Amino acid sequence: MGIQAPPGVFDIVPEDSKNRWKESYLWAHVENVMKEMALLYGFKEIRTPIFEKTELFCRSVGEATDIVSKEMYTFKDRGERDLTLRPEGTAAVLRAVIENKLLDKQSLKLFYIGPMFRYERAQAGRFRQFHQFGIEAFGNGSPEQDAEIIDLAYSLYVKLGVKGLKVKLGSLGNKESRNQYRSALIEFLQNHLTSLSEESRIRFEKNPLRILDSKDEKDQEILKEAPSLLNFLSSECVAHFEGVKNALTSLDIPFEVDDRLVRGLDYYQKTVFEIISSDLGAHNTLCGGGRYDGLLKELGGPDLPCTGFAIGIERTLQVMLKQEVALPPKESPVLYVIPMGEKGRKEAFKLVNSLRRLGLKSEMHFEEGKVGKGFAKASDLGSRYALALGERELETGTLEIKDLISGNKHALPLASLPQFLQNDHL
Ligand code: HAM
Repeated sequence: MGIQAPPGVFDIVPEDSKNRWKESYLWAHVENVMKEMALLYGFKEIRTPIFEKTELFCRSVGEATDIVSKEMYTFKDRGERDLTLRPEGTAAVLRAVIENKLLDKQSLKLFYIGPMFRYERAQAGRFRQFHQFGIEAFGNGSPEQDAEIIDLAYSLYVKLGVKGLKVKLGSLGNKESRNQYRSALIEFLQNHLTSLSEESRIRFEKNPLRILDSKDEKDQEILKEAPSLLNFLSSECVAHFEGVKNALTSLDIPFEVDDRLVRGLDYYQKTVFEIISSDLGAHNTLCGGGRYDGLLKELGGPDLPCTGFAIGIERTLQVMLKQEVALPPKESPVLYVIPMGEKGRKEAFKLVNSLRRLGLKSEMHFEEGKVGKGFAKASDLGSRYALALGERELETGTLEIKDLISGNKHALPLASLPQFLQNDHL
């Protein structure tokens, strides 16, 4: 076997019958629906580079997070610059918004689609290069703005045909309330330190709030008695949280309040949310996001409120296939032309070209050999029709076109072929 791709990465290919979620036409379908939805809600596309200065992610995602402390693909370039393959999109988008002065108009709504890189343990649903569709809304601090983006994510899944999703909603409050909660949690956990899992004990030193996210059963048992973050919110944060809940209720979006929702990035304040599916394994979060007021200013931009989310495209496709949602048909030609003889070959080449100029997807059989093989190839490609073109057809100006679905054949003047196909297919 030749050189294989490194662990945790994969190719997106035209066909993969074992892992259909890798098929490129499905990626195109999902990305098109994502773009359509983003535009429908007034978001405009932004594309940022795949790598950034390392400092950007340390300052925004947070030094103590798993992402920054152990998952980044960081390297020095030939000019000794410290660079990192982006582990997420938000920090890069903020950097670009500030650098390109996109915020002159105060409010701005952006979306992006692209690969992200994290050195995580590669396993089902977790990759080292994965793809996100993300949304960032700047300049609107209202609860409705949070609800609008949750609605966008939820409606996107409805449009893709995914069912049975759970929206988990929480609030981290502002910096003060979170610091107060942090102290209360530390005090509580201090008494249980020896019973906590090793991972949680490490988190206790570095980032105690993340212990709430522990999957360890014993940790979960201990946490049942832990103080609730929601009891530490300021009155303004409580009002904001109530506003988000009311707005979601008014749109009939089902959600569940989760006072343990802490997320893996440090920049969040107030609203946080995740959309999860029970049809995925351990890594069941399809979408994660929340409000991050303050980050734009910290990175040198104006002091404007911001909120956003990102959806994992791999997991989205995996859940769609698991749930057997209706998928679009694969791209296939309308007509497959099989030439016979030298003259037929020349004319078939021109014919296929003229049909394509009319927007009719057509293909020519280039292999020499029996006509039957050409018809078999036409069926393999899923072509709607096929015809053979040789001297006799050219002399009489009459073709015999085969309908590959019914198996019927029709005689038809060569000159009316475009019209025949157009009537049938446009
Ligand atoms: P995140 O929760 O780190 O948030 O990632 C969002 C989504 O990306 C996850 O829910 C998951 O579907 C997908 N994802 C993350 N890591 C992997 C992986 N290793 N393999 C496969 N899929 C993965 C963020 O990245 C924030 N920037 C979201 C955000 C935008 N918050 C505000 N604005």
